[in-house]
Amino acid sequence: MAATSGAREVFGTRAGFILAAAGSAVGLGNMWRFSYQASEGGGAAFVLLYIGMTIILGIPLMLAEFSIGRAGRRAPVGALRKLAGPGWGRVGWLFAVGPLLILSYYSVIAGWTVRYAIESIATGFPEEAAEHFGRVATGQGAIAYHVGFMAATLAVVMAGVKGGIERASLILMPALFFIVVGLAIWATTLSGGAAGYRVYLQPEISALSDPAVWRAAAAQSFFSLSLGMGAMITFASYLERTHDLPESATIVSFTDFGVAFVSGLVVFPVIYSLGLQGAVSESTVGALFIALPGAFESMGLVGHVVGLFFFVVLAVGALTSAISLLEVVTSSVIDEFGVPRKAAAVGVAVTAAVLGLLPATSLDALGLMDKIAGEFALVIGTLLIAIVAGWVARGTVTDELLAGTSPFWRRQVPRIVLAIRYVVPVLIVIVLVFSSGETVKAVRDFLGG
Ligand code: PHE
Repeated sequence: MAATSGAREVFGTRAGFILAAAGSAVGLGNMWRFSYQASEGGGAAFVLLYIGMTIILGIPLMLAEFSIGRAGRRAPVGALRKLAGPGWGRVGWLFAVGPLLILSYYSVIAGWTVRYAIESIATGFPEEAAEHFGRVATGQGAIAYHVGFMAATLAVVMAGVKGGIERASLILMPALFFIVVGLAIWATTLSGGAAGYRVYLQPEISALSDPAVWRAAAAQSFFSLSLGMGAMITFASYLERTHDLPESATIVSFTDFGVAFVSGLVVFPVIYSLGLQGAVSESTVGALFIALPGAFESMGLVGHVVGLFFFVVLAVGALTSAISLLEVVTSSVIDEFGVPRKAAAVGVAVTAAVLGLLPATSLDALGLMDKIAGEFALVIGTLLIAIVAGWVARGTVTDELLAGTSPFWRRQVPRIVLAIRYVVPVLIVIVLVFSSGETVKAVRDFLGG
């Protein structure tokens, strides 16, 4: 193992860390995945389950990652080795391979959002939204935007924790919050949006009896909170011990939920006011990339402006998340092989860009990668983290949860540790049983069809 030379970089401000973690969490998951899943899972019923999962599973797991990262002061591989032993260090490579795979297709989707943002003002969206999406989503255009987006992500990560990641988050995240809220206010002026609000906000109770909806809500909360991929371990490894971890985890989780919820207040009324509801659950990408551009186009000039803001928000959210994905892998390469930051970041970004050629040419491949890396590997990752934090390194994790923490949160620490030890792993195993079946089916479908 190569030790890193010199002191480890640290975040300069409390807000910088919180916004960077929120930047990782808030992304395509909040807008693209959330609205699709909510429309599949009975609207508000899914939303309620989702907020429950965020509190019961999400916050304890985020704290588990924060504590492992800050105690280990290393990227996931090194942090797990230090806290739990060499075997766990090897297992920790999952937290490099997983994020690398997610980054490769995430950047492809992010590329579409950039292209749509540009088109909304430059040319407008063509009439035949579905065919246009086909041209945007695969082939040379998709590859070009994917590579461009990866280059932007790389530029930030090369500039380091304070000068790159923290600075970008401090500027981009407040802008994103502001625009999302503005869009939701604008959406209230749409005639015919009421049906959309109804579907979104009135629970369809029967959906709760479907275990698939529970699994989807749990998996969605992991993906959206960037858990199970080592992102929060990595960011916390750049933190001082004076930082209040439980308070930050709560702020980050509720911010993430808030942005997802408010995005739903944009997507649902727009789609329903134009009678496009069928398109939402038609395909994973249908809602955002086919129905919405079509809707914006039919609104004339207003639609162009709103479309621009909407896709800019998506692109910005995607950028801050992609930054965290690239940083996780880069930090492991820096820590484990002693490679300087810039070279490590370039190497990882180029690898992810090449891997992304597959999802940039096939939507089926993209969907499959999302199932395997974005859902299955992520759930395995959360289970490993719960085991390390709750069982293998419980003492260290408990100390870490208490250090720098306010009296209110100190009193909650025993409860948080109990959740990490028992509640979280049991629920994850249940989710895993369902996800395995789904993943196997997805792989079969892909190979067979
Ligand atoms: N949380 C991000 C989103 O919602 C995706 C992500 C997953 C980022 C895992 C980092 C790690 O889009």
